[in-house]
Amino acid sequence: MSSEIIFEPFRIKVVEPIRLSTEDERRQWLADAGYNVFLLRSEQVVIDLLTDSGTAAMSQEQWAALQAGDESYAGSKSYFELEAVAQELFQKRVIIPVHQGRAGEHLVFHELIERGAVVPSNGHFDTTAANVRDRGGTPLNLPCAAASQLRTSAPFKGDIDLPALKALLESHHEQIPFVLMTITNNTGGGQPVSFANLSAVKELCTEFRKPLIIDGCRFAENAYFIKMREHGFADESPKAIAQRVFALADIVTFSGKKDALSNIGGLVCLYDEELAERLKNRLVVTEGFSTYGGLAGRDLAAMAQGLREVVEPSYLHYRIRTIEWMVERLDRAKVPVLIPAGGHGLYIDAAAFFTHLSPEQFPGIALVNELYLRGGIRAVELGNVAFGSTDESGKPQFPPHDLVRLAMPRRVYTEAHAGYVVEIILSLFRQATQVRGYRFVKEAPVLRHFRSTFAPLD
Ligand SMILES: Cc1ncc(COP(=O)(O)O)c(C=O)c1O
Repeated sequence: MSSEIIFEPFRIKVVEPIRLSTEDERRQWLADAGYNVFLLRSEQVVIDLLTDSGTAAMSQEQWAALQAGDESYAGSKSYFELEAVAQELFQKRVIIPVHQGRAGEHLVFHELIERGAVVPSNGHFDTTAANVRDRGGTPLNLPCAAASQLRTSAPFKGDIDLPALKALLESHHEQIPFVLMTITNNTGGGQPVSFANLSAVKELCTEFRKPLIIDGCRFAENAYFIKMREHGFADESPKAIAQRVFALADIVTFSGKKDALSNIGGLVCLYDEELAERLKNRLVVTEGFSTYGGLAGRDLAAMAQGLREVVEPSYLHYRIRTIEWMVERLDRAKVPVLIPAGGHGLYIDAAAFFTHLSPEQFPGIALVNELYLRGGIRAVELGNVAFGSTDESGKPQFPPHDLVRLAMPRRVYTEAHAGYVVEIILSLFRQATQVRGYRFVKEAPVLRHFRSTFAPLD
């Protein structure tokens, strides 16, 4: 199309009203929630950007597929439809459904990881790292150098550091069960991984005789970035690029709650029939029979249809462009936003946003709470609280960056919603020095951002 305007490539048929609230109401609700937005009720939120996981709006074809879902315990027709779509896309013979991504991680790692193992990756998602640790292994992130430069643009900040991976494969060869690549790299800001980087990882895996696992949660967004940014891919479809990417992997773990446009579901896809047998035997104990894996038949059907839709270029163009559009506006006003834009959300460097707050005053929590108070926007802190800890002497330990993520649910919000979010961030940025920090009231022992409570500092 010739217009410069990129609009949402869908019409809205069913609407969910948003309850608009006042700042006074939100002030009370946030205090009642212990200043932790995870403890709010969803009706108390105006624009919910907590996560892009399981929050997509389904299409009319997906809703129709739900109706046609086959609820047979074994051999469901919906399973075989999903199997055919997934075999073609993920380029694997065996397709095992699971109830969500982490169940697939648990299943695969249970078979492949032994105590003392070291798992290298461009970036483990937090449940992935937790599942490695659960088996007595150590997750090791080897992000490329560009990943740590938040305000410097580079096309593929999700890449793994290849020399570091090679050195590790040489020094810890016996302890490494596989290499894990996450596309896009959620932990690194939803940044994409290039085809060149994935191919080079595959070559190293072949040289050192290690399987390559791809955590493909956001494979379609990653494929679109490859198409737009990597030399030689401009004329290929996102689907063809995704197929080339997945052909490199021995095993794919996948959460359907992201790029299957579904509200629940996941997959493990692989070639190795012998390993697949072991996984299916365990699946019966943990998730269910191998043609439903903890899901209703209708969920399998919705995932199959979502996998067809998510690789549509017009959808991906609108999706990636919405976040880019927000980031461009914030960047222009010097808001310390991670650049370039990631695939599923925008990330703000809270320490640089509130330069008057020290790390102990939790700038990330202050930013999340202020976005909620001023605009009813729910974001998530992925910084000093989520990834920090208190050591045995009571001294706080902080991660390198105190980030706040605003994740965009798929097909849920329009450009006007995006514009509103930008406006609230810009007005807050202009008054940043007026914002106070926070202290813990109750510090949760693990994954602190979910359940801790806070109080504003005087
Ligand atoms: C990269 C990545 N891997 C795995 C998972 C886990 O998927 P699920 O939430 O479906 O268990 C997530 C969830 O956000 C993720 O972002």
